[in-house]
Amino acid sequence: ADRRERQVAVFGAGYIGLVTGACLADLGNRVVVRDIDTERVRILQAGDVPFHEPGLGDMIARNKERLTFTLDLDETLRDAEVAYVCVDTPPSASGDADLSKVWSVVRSLAGAAHLRAVVMKSTVPVGTGARARAALDNAGLTATAYASNPEFTAEGRAVSDFMNPDRIVIGADDPAAAALIAALHEGINAPVVTTDVRSAEMVKLASNALLATKISFANEIATLCENTGADAMEVLSAVGLDHRLGPHFLRPGIGWGGSCFPKDSEALRQLASNTGFHPMLLSAVIDVNNIQKRRVIQKLKDVLGDLAGREIALLGMAFKPGTDDMREAPSTVLASRLQAEGASVRCWDPLAQPGEVEPWVSATRYASPEKALDGADAAVVVTEWPQLRDVDWARAAATMRRPVLFDGRNLLDPAQMRGLGFTYLSVGRP
Ligand code: UGA
Repeated sequence: ADRRERQVAVFGAGYIGLVTGACLADLGNRVVVRDIDTERVRILQAGDVPFHEPGLGDMIARNKERLTFTLDLDETLRDAEVAYVCVDTPPSASGDADLSKVWSVVRSLAGAAHLRAVVMKSTVPVGTGARARAALDNAGLTATAYASNPEFTAEGRAVSDFMNPDRIVIGADDPAAAALIAALHEGINAPVVTTDVRSAEMVKLASNALLATKISFANEIATLCENTGADAMEVLSAVGLDHRLGPHFLRPGIGWGGSCFPKDSEALRQLASNTGFHPMLLSAVIDVNNIQKRRVIQKLKDVLGDLAGREIALLGMAFKPGTDDMREAPSTVLASRLQAEGASVRCWDPLAQPGEVEPWVSATRYASPEKALDGADAAVVVTEWPQLRDVDWARAAATMRRPVLFDGRNLLDPAQMRGLGFTYLSVGRP
């Protein structure tokens, strides 16, 4: 049966806006994505995608008929039934999320009283919905519903996460609006959780905080394993077999990064402080992560002594493989700590362009891991890019000035690397 094509306006053509827009169009809705960045809109109109996200370009291309990009506000709102807010909410000086872009979108809706619902996709503090409700009322949109529809998509797999979610969460101030938003997702096979706006806002923050907690827990267990001679990989894979705990997000490493966990955990902590509450567990989760990102420096010093004048190769700069995203990447902390110690930093990454997001990271970029390793005093596997498994490590052991390798992601085999002559260190493994 033919379903009715629904008209959706998406504000913001970043990661979230583009994935949301493309997927809603793919589900059969008619979508107009608006951004105020002229260059970004030009790129999208030309059929290109301004960042790396697998499957997104193809999805945009095959939905040309139903998916348009524009700078024009009137064109965006003319036929829209639902307006999605998908702008970024970076941390502000106080630690609270900076909602200025959200409010600017909400203000721009004045006059669009024909909208049936305004939907928040951006990650916002609990209570934002109530402020948005008041702003919409002031703008004359008293009959327009407000809803929170948080996203749970991970970069690098955002399209498939959107289309195959574990759940769709809709917090709405009006049941009809919740039904309308659920209908936009028709074709996705997942439970739809409808709740109040504040609870939906909290689901997003709580989910990311618990995922970050699992990783910090794994990292703390890994340190304990190092101190006691146990093997963290063995321990955590056995722990994860308990179905009550689950195997996911228990990989120890050099700490979590990215555009979500660091920002969202800080925002949740700030939200708690604003209510006069000190969240002890969440604070420890953040502390463990900050320490984890710096532990590698101490381990390098234990082997190399003073790091001044040393050439250190960072293999992988993106905050995780499969993306070019450098936001809050552990590599940036490592690079600047190494520089502060007087070391020279070399780096390799197949996608990320260090320096673009973090201009203070001055690392010499190499075209291949082998070139970065040639003559280095030590190397750190920072991001578990699969191509690092294929490096000719025997050759690297010979071309490095000192064959010292810190495997921050437990990507390689300890016995094999030691067999090649490496002083090989990893996370939580003897
Ligand atoms: C994360 C969540 O996974 C998504 O559900 C959420 O929607 C998204 O944030 C968001 O709020 O927008 P993302 O930041 O793209 O997605 O990346 P993840 O794959 O979750 O990885 C986050 C960090 O944790 C990375 O630095 C990764 O290396 C690290 N990690 C992950 C570990 O160190 N160990 C693990 O076991 C898993």
